[in-house]
Amino acid sequence: MCGIVGYVGTECCAHLLLSGLRRLEYRGYDSAGIAIANDDGQVQVCRAEGKLTNLEQAYRQEPFDGAIGVGHTRWATHGRPSESNAHPHRAGRVVVAHNGIIENYLELKEKLTAQGREFTSETDTEVVAHLIDEAWNPSTRSLHEATCEALEEIEGSYALAVISTENPEELVVARNASPMVIARGRDCAFAASDVPAVLDHTRRFIFLHDGDTAVLRTGGIEVFDSNGEPVEREVKRIAWDPISAEKQGYKHFMLKEIHEQPARITDTLRGRVSVDRGEVHLPELGLDEQTVQKLDKIVFVACGTSFFAAQIAKYMIEEVARIPVETDLASEFRYRNPLISDDTLAIAISQSGETADTLAAIREAGERGARTLGIVNVIESTIAREADGVIYTHAGPEIGVASTKAFTTQLTAVAMLAIKLGRLKGTLDVAQARELIEALRHVPAEMENLLQDSSLYEKLARGYSQAKSFLYLGRGNQYPIAMEGALKLKEISYIHAEGYAAGEMKHGPIALIDRNMPVVVLSPRNSVYEKTASNLEEVKARGGRIIAIGTEGDERLDAFSDVVIPLPKVHEFVQPLISVVVVQLIAYHIADFKGTDIDQPRNLAKSVTVE
Ligand code: F6R
Repeated sequence: MCGIVGYVGTECCAHLLLSGLRRLEYRGYDSAGIAIANDDGQVQVCRAEGKLTNLEQAYRQEPFDGAIGVGHTRWATHGRPSESNAHPHRAGRVVVAHNGIIENYLELKEKLTAQGREFTSETDTEVVAHLIDEAWNPSTRSLHEATCEALEEIEGSYALAVISTENPEELVVARNASPMVIARGRDCAFAASDVPAVLDHTRRFIFLHDGDTAVLRTGGIEVFDSNGEPVEREVKRIAWDPISAEKQGYKHFMLKEIHEQPARITDTLRGRVSVDRGEVHLPELGLDEQTVQKLDKIVFVACGTSFFAAQIAKYMIEEVARIPVETDLASEFRYRNPLISDDTLAIAISQSGETADTLAAIREAGERGARTLGIVNVIESTIAREADGVIYTHAGPEIGVASTKAFTTQLTAVAMLAIKLGRLKGTLDVAQARELIEALRHVPAEMENLLQDSSLYEKLARGYSQAKSFLYLGRGNQYPIAMEGALKLKEISYIHAEGYAAGEMKHGPIALIDRNMPVVVLSPRNSVYEKTASNLEEVKARGGRIIAIGTEGDERLDAFSDVVIPLPKVHEFVQPLISVVVVQLIAYHIADFKGTDIDQPRNLAKSVTVE
């Protein structure tokens, strides 16, 4: 989720790197740095914690320049935000900026330490710099060859930009599951994790493929495929203006973030699940078998969308690990004199890790003796720091105020936690764990398919955006999705909406149903399908307009519904991760049709740090 910019050419490049980073600041902003080599091969590095202005200030105090360099703006994944963890990282003659996650970095770090290598940061990236330096003998091989050799040892995702003291004419880049673009200019070449970084200098880009590496020089660019063979990649012209480039061509950050979800879920799973062994690795959890066996209950505290993730956690954990789960709105928990024991595990779910009520609630639980855990997106946020254990979601910075990718990565973390607890508790055998992990790993591909076509949502928006109020219904693990769907619609389109448990409808809300009230029913094929389908028939009998979200090919839904949105067939355990994308898109397209301020809806803030 970080940003990279690189340059090699004939001009001094500090200003270019800093202005490129400014264009990428929306991607990550807990620290930043630049490294520049001069003609004599001396590389100077300047890094600073915090926003880019801190780096600019530090650079102004001791300026340096040269015609080849790399810059980086960081959103921490391994290691706290600090100057020493900021990129670029140097090891011997090699300087590296990296986006992504190196899964086997601990193993590699151990090996390199045994070889006498000293580390100065807590990052996964530093191992890459050491590996390249270790593999490089400039008299027999190029920096590119050494980089390729080092990459053979790496597992994980990366976009890398590498420069060196020995060869200040070449910038080497590599890509695997993390974007990297390169471009030729007049007597120069550029590299960037994202187009906006260098859009002021060129509009013609090569989008590297996974496994590609490239060598950039003043005189040109060479690209190699994953077998190390030279390859021609198409040059694409980008017509976006810098602002829409930040949104990668999407109209709003929210839409970009909805489409990013498959990749962010993959990042959240990366290195943490093994289908073969039926295992989930969450070492940062700090929970052993004995502690889990003794747990009397788990209490989740959270607010807003994160609270709905907690409600789904209840379904997942009780089903899989057979441990009682309570969920509390953080603002209620802190004032209700809750029953907590030393054998209670209290879990705070928070994208920002700073929400005032959630923080106060988890502190309260800790003071009453509970062991505490955070499921948090922002590294080193207060909840992450204060909890006894933490599971980081890897959603990256979420710019749209309405939570989307933060939510689905929370669900991914919660699903992994449920499987882990089930294994520790002994309620889940290896074969069952494998089945659930397999189901989780399929989610990104299924989501990708679901995101292919927006025409149905655009049509739906035209037909329904005049409605004054919507009802969302769901049962089981679709009930929290019904509430999340209603919340999304409210916050970005300003249309009133209620999320209800489908079985509760006849206890009140059924009185509201008439032709003017669209009813969104979440009814995929699952263990409560028959029950939900009969609620749907009750709505139909009262003249309601039904928008059904159900499993593809379900003819029964077709017969009762005005609109049917098909979902792929997936395991019931992961159905919420799929169906939530549909309610996100319904809300987005209705709001877009109405022309509201989708990324910054009125009266809302991204991080609610006051009570
Ligand atoms: C809704 C939304 C909010 C947040 C809530 C909690 O789209 O974004 O409801 O989920 O304010 O925020 P975090 O997760 O940062 O604690």
